[in-house]
Amino acid sequence: MKYARITGTGSYLPERIMTNAEMEKIVDTTDQWIQDRTGIKQRHIAADDQTTCDLAEQASLRAMAAAGKTSDDIDLVIVATTTPDQVFPSTACLLQKKLGIHGCAAFDVQAVCTGFVYALGIADNFIKAGSAKCALIIGAETLSRILDWTDRGTCVLFGDGAGAVIVEASEQPGILSSHLHADGSYEHLLNVPNGISKNQQRFREEGAHIIMKGNEVFKMAVNTLGRIVDETLQANQMQKSDINWLVPHQANIRIINATGKKLGLNPDHVVVTVDKHGNTSAASVPLALDTAVREGRIKEGETVMLEAFGGGFTWGAVLLKW
Ligand code: ACO
Repeated sequence: MKYARITGTGSYLPERIMTNAEMEKIVDTTDQWIQDRTGIKQRHIAADDQTTCDLAEQASLRAMAAAGKTSDDIDLVIVATTTPDQVFPSTACLLQKKLGIHGCAAFDVQAVCTGFVYALGIADNFIKAGSAKCALIIGAETLSRILDWTDRGTCVLFGDGAGAVIVEASEQPGILSSHLHADGSYEHLLNVPNGISKNQQRFREEGAHIIMKGNEVFKMAVNTLGRIVDETLQANQMQKSDINWLVPHQANIRIINATGKKLGLNPDHVVVTVDKHGNTSAASVPLALDTAVREGRIKEGETVMLEAFGGGFTWGAVLLKW
């Protein structure tokens, strides 16, 4: 088989919606500031008894139904997440159990907001190598569990959710190329410093929270995403005008608009969902993709660019024919 092709999408957002007005009651912020600087109007927050794996399960069931697949068809499970249910087993293994999938490879990928793009790139390689025929690829997060709810610079930005796709071996394109990058020297600009093996005492006392130098991350994100657009077009010997749709990581409307402009795209062809769910990290690209697909916006044969930038720093793009 020559290509790996997305044959079904699904997504899930927890029931509880938290508006910017509610944020105004928690930290010193305003609905106006949040909307002007980020485009976010609301985010979804997982219930206390809902885990990342629960969100992943709902998104997976919808993607499997869309592709007409059952648990028996799946021969690879990859979950991209920064907020796994537990230290181990991986969320992918926990999800396998929930879905009744037995025996195939299942593992998590940790590339923060670029996680889903990484997972899709890995699935593409598995399928092209003949190691898998029908992969279930998920981005799922409960980011609300690693927020400092007293830090207005971060807590207003993030939300919970999950998105999933089925990727199958196909003679038809398909994923055309994937481009994955990282530079760990920027760790200091965006991180969760307390963990299992480092700052363990603080982890026990304070928990784990996102720390971000937002304006520096912003500049890096805009420049880096501009470069990855060029790299992806060059690798496929395509022009900007060949791209029909941009499905970007949903972190900030200003970053999204800058990348859309770089591609010279009509804003109607840049998929935006950040207003509805904030930054859901690894879940944001598949959530946006599923929204556009279910609305019937992306048509067969069109060329779609997925891109993301996140902690690490990590960044990447996937170019595909729908
Ligand atoms: N409400 C009101 N004021 C605020 C808030 C808030 N929620 N947050 C910060 N401010 C204030 C700051 O304190 C600052 O005030 P000062 O001028 O008195 O010091 C002012 O607003 C401007 O702050 P900046 O940080 O310069 O604001 P900026 O325009 O850069 O917007 C934001 C901040 C939204 C965080 C933006 O920088 C951003 O989106 N950064 C990129 C985020 C991103 O893409 N992250 C990567 C993925 S995330 C991941 O991988 C986990």
